[in-house]
Amino acid sequence: MEFPITRMRRLRKNSQIRDILQETRLVPENFIYPVFVKEELKKGQVELIDTMPGQKRYALEDMVDEAKILEEKGLKSIILFGLPATKDDFGSSAHDPQGIVQKSIKLLKEETDLVVMTDVCLCQYTTQGHCGIVEDGKILNDETLEHLAQIALSHAEAGADVVAPSDMMDGRVDAIREMLDLNGFEDTLIMSYAAKYASAFYAPFRDAVCSGPCFGDRKTYQMNPSNTLEALREAELDLMEGADILMIKPALAYLDIIKMIKDEFKVPTAAYNVSGEYSMLKAGIEAGYLTEESIYEALLSIKRAGADLIISHFAPEFLEILE
Ligand code: PBG
Ligand code: ZN
Repeated sequence: MEFPITRMRRLRKNSQIRDILQETRLVPENFIYPVFVKEELKKGQVELIDTMPGQKRYALEDMVDEAKILEEKGLKSIILFGLPATKDDFGSSAHDPQGIVQKSIKLLKEETDLVVMTDVCLCQYTTQGHCGIVEDGKILNDETLEHLAQIALSHAEAGADVVAPSDMMDGRVDAIREMLDLNGFEDTLIMSYAAKYASAFYAPFRDAVCSGPCFGDRKTYQMNPSNTLEALREAELDLMEGADILMIKPALAYLDIIKMIKDEFKVPTAAYNVSGEYSMLKAGIEAGYLTEESIYEALLSIKRAGADLIISHFAPEFLEILE
């Protein structure tokens, strides 16, 4: 009797057996949907984003209507990206209490039960398109912190549940935590873009929000894609500064970083399935080279790597797949 006693294929024998033995499951609670709200658009005007098939820039009211539809399908959280009507050297429109993001937060909190998160950065609001204040061609770190803290505070005042700084300046989590606490927002969470790489996979997003830098690149603040130890140090610093949730970005090309950070720190971990990762699968599916199942598999890999939360433009499609 030498035939194998263990037969792995017994465990895959039919769909019911496979189903009850499935180790990783995606649920709507895992998803955060990134939405683009554009100040200049009037109700009913929508702009399709050419580089991201299926994604749109919304007017305030239409964004909220869309959010309600998705909430009915099971969506629990949303992250807001604003396209302001005006830009200046200091990105002042980013902390305007009547700004597009601040208004969006208010309306979403009034009309839905969604967890409302916001991207905190300057690049969509500055004329030079960098994530910080620029002087003589340099991106100034410490001068930028005050601005980021002001933006985060304005989001918290409007009712944001979670603020998510994506700038990669040193000390921003500390600056934001202090500003929030001083103003009575001890309960506003910070989800830091802890390990954010200088990635070519952001290209479609920059087109979507018109935020590419006017000169140079983001390599003096975003991380070198070849680095792992640096991600651990970034994550550790953000935690010490008071981050509640650590985010890794992008996701698919950085699954090792997600796993490492989750295993090392054992704190709530998010991963950003970025625009380029979205558009590449969409393009493959539209060309007929891939099927829609590839979306599910890609998202599953992010969860399997250790992400508790997945920020993804695929969130609406995932909810459809579930239905
Ligand atoms: C900018 C920002 C970027 C993204 C989110 N916030 C792009 C960048 O750093 O240039 C990327 C999102 C995506 O590609 O989906 N702070
Ligand atoms: Zn930025």
